Amino acid sequence: MEKKKIAIVFGTRPEAIKMAPVILELQKHQEKFESCIIVTAQHREMLDQALAVFDIKPDYDLDIMRQNQTLSDITADVLKGIETIFIKEKPDMVLVHGDTTTSFAAALAAYYHQIPIGHVEAGLRTHDKNSPFPEEGNRQLIDTITDLFFVPTETTKQNLLKEGKDEKWIVVTGNTVIDAIHYTKDSQTKHSALDLMDSKPNQKWILLTSHRRENYGEPMANIFEAILEVVNEHPEVDLLLPVHLSPTVQEVARKILGSHKRIHLIDPLEVDVFHQVISKAYLVLTDSGGLQEEAPALDIPVLVLRDKTERPEGLKAGTLRVIGTDKNRVIEEVNELITNEERYNKMSKAINPYGDGLASGRILEEINYYFKGKNRGLS
Ligand code: UD1
Ligand code: UDP
Repeated sequence: MEKKKIAIVFGTRPEAIKMAPVILELQKHQEKFESCIIVTAQHREMLDQALAVFDIKPDYDLDIMRQNQTLSDITADVLKGIETIFIKEKPDMVLVHGDTTTSFAAALAAYYHQIPIGHVEAGLRTHDKNSPFPEEGNRQLIDTITDLFFVPTETTKQNLLKEGKDEKWIVVTGNTVIDAIHYTKDSQTKHSALDLMDSKPNQKWILLTSHRRENYGEPMANIFEAILEVVNEHPEVDLLLPVHLSPTVQEVARKILGSHKRIHLIDPLEVDVFHQVISKAYLVLTDSGGLQEEAPALDIPVLVLRDKTERPEGLKAGTLRVIGTDKNRVIEEVNELITNEERYNKMSKAINPYGDGLASGRILEEINYYFKGKNRGLS
């Protein structure tokens, strides 16, 4: 079989972290595959930070990020920018990840150019197009035009089967985020945030992240006000918040949480440092998607600051609780986990429903089969 050219397109921090293991695996198989790494730079600093940890150098960089960009800005810039590259490079397959607007626009460009699409982390669903917004819409739209579905779990496979997708092209691989954790686990990278946590080892450290567009405005203010009350009430608690670079998040975080001596607002962390921070935390409080997978894999309980989750595996395993953004509910739920040892211990028992760290190898194997005109139907 002649070498196949695989274009990998991504643009944000989480996509970079979850696609990095696939890229590293592709690069190990240069006898079969040629890689073409295209970043849209929907995120700039946060993308570059993730690329540096894995030492990945893109072949193309669309550099589209603007301050407070709209979803239409991202879609239009990616669609047009990618087209030129696809025409020049003529990839045999395009890989996209998850549910960002970069992924949706890149998949659409591939579809228009009739290039087969492989969707990594396919099949996640809440079935509510407004939650999370616009990610639920993006992933459903991507899966409508996907050729090869790489799903992280059996549940996500079932979601696609219920939508009538052909089982032949659905492969259960595990989530590549576990591959990424295997990559970062021996990191010795030092950071002042780690020193800070180590300097107060008896504190209960809460790690908070929040960035979702549907939480912009009142819900995010509620979350931050709730956590301020919790920290005020509990002298044994310190809070670490690596603040997302979105100006909307920056503004409200600094306004509500910017001046408390046990609340530490810091810049986004390199992912190898961030994984160490999760491991040292007592509890994770987040509206992030990726953290709902990473924290359970690192044995840390997660309270999810959303109304719905597309990751029911963590709920079933008992390591996640979906608590929404109502101020009183957030206070109640966090208080409960700080004070109720039995509930805390139940949630922090080691369960990782997201795979064995070998997802990238399975993805590559299946792409190989695809080009031989076969499918293995791994499950
Ligand atoms: C995007 C994704 C979301 C994903 C999140 C991960 C969409 C619609 N949203 O949301 O699914 O969960 O990334 O973090 O695809 N900014 C910087 N520097 C950076 C990154 C962001 O300054 O490195 C600022 C810019 O002003 C940018 C704004 O943040 O306009 C928002 O970024 P954007 O990618 O539009 O939205 P996110 O909330 O990051
Ligand atoms: N992350 C990071 N540094 C930080 C915060 C998060 O490297 O300061 C990583 C985290 O480990 C996870 C990913 O970023 O892999 C999650 O990204 P985010 O929450 O921005 O997006 P989502 O997962 O919600 O799409």
